[in-house]
Amino acid sequence: MRKAAMFDSKPYDSETFEKWTAGQVSIDYFPVRLDERTVSLVQGHEAVIVFVNDDLNANVIEKLYESGVRLIALRCSGFNNVDVKAAFGKLHIVRVPAYSPEAVAEHTAALLLTSVRRIHKAYNRTRDFNFSIAGLVGWNLHGKTAGIIGTGKIGRAFLNICKGMGMKILAYDKYPSEEVDAQYVPLETLYKESDVISLHCPLADDNVHMINEDAIKQMKRNVILLNTSRGGLIDAEALLQGLLDKRIGGACLDVYEEESDLFFEDRSGHILQDDVLARLLSMPNVIVTSHQAFLTEEALDGIARTTVQNLVDFFDGKPIPNEICYRCAELDQCRKKRKENCF
Ligand code: NAI
Repeated sequence: MRKAAMFDSKPYDSETFEKWTAGQVSIDYFPVRLDERTVSLVQGHEAVIVFVNDDLNANVIEKLYESGVRLIALRCSGFNNVDVKAAFGKLHIVRVPAYSPEAVAEHTAALLLTSVRRIHKAYNRTRDFNFSIAGLVGWNLHGKTAGIIGTGKIGRAFLNICKGMGMKILAYDKYPSEEVDAQYVPLETLYKESDVISLHCPLADDNVHMINEDAIKQMKRNVILLNTSRGGLIDAEALLQGLLDKRIGGACLDVYEEESDLFFEDRSGHILQDDVLARLLSMPNVIVTSHQAFLTEEALDGIARTTVQNLVDFFDGKPIPNEICYRCAELDQCRKKRKENCF
């Protein structure tokens, strides 16, 4: 049977994947992340199944290729951790473009409501039999303005939740869509007029630290900033300063630029070395979750089903619709548009 090696595997991964493999592919589950130190584990496998914090740089890709691996199957939608150019012509790359945008959008809404109604503080108080409500004054979302950056699948799902709560929507997207029922505005306007700003665009070379000192200065005082997309979109030091200056009223982060050494693991016995994160975590108006916005039963099931299908299509030599390569951005060169594989 064709063999794949899964990296950064958690118990819930093997549980859900084994439901879908059904004798079509054999998966070895490795809890370690894929990087230059662990790449030797791939011997005897034709594919690797990787996640957001596996490091697929050019060296790792070369070693995968030399070991006989021919497919990188991302079990997520983002692929900023893969050197797609280095892989071209050697390893095919597939991803799960959508599994449950609602899972991420609902988590974003949960963070927003927790923040504006101080649920995180109330939860801790009542568990200590402290039933005081002093200091828990929140504000209504109804009638306020949500600025949504990135109106793809997740952005749209979140936009609909915000509409349902009676919020006005302002949207920004590099490629606005006529299907989106919202007013597209320039970023400057979105920053100036939004009470809540939520990031739902992918991280790419041109938008690293798009939320920086300059962007924060343009924002409405007391804005709530939500990031369930990728940590690198926000300059964390500028965010910290914005919170200290009381320009930002609250930050809800499911992702963090330096998350790869921390998130998904129990670090409670360690001293946190990241001073910026430590300071952020000490603030009553900052809520951090550990890249868990996708973590619902429905989403895990969708991820496993699509990833196994991607593997089977590749092994059977069929067209793989979920393939990506660096030429996707150059439409005239994109072979996928002609229903062919990327190389
Ligand atoms: P999508 O591809 O459906 O939508 C992305 C949208 O962003 C598109 O409309 C695109 O035109 C727009 N965009 C691209 N570059 C932009 C830029 N520089 N500025 C503004 N807009 C830009 O992707 P989807 O499924 O909505 O996911 C969005 C992001 O959410 C992913 O890239 C990933 O980083 C993140 N994500 C986070 C998860 C979590 O557990 N926290 C889980 C899944 C995805």
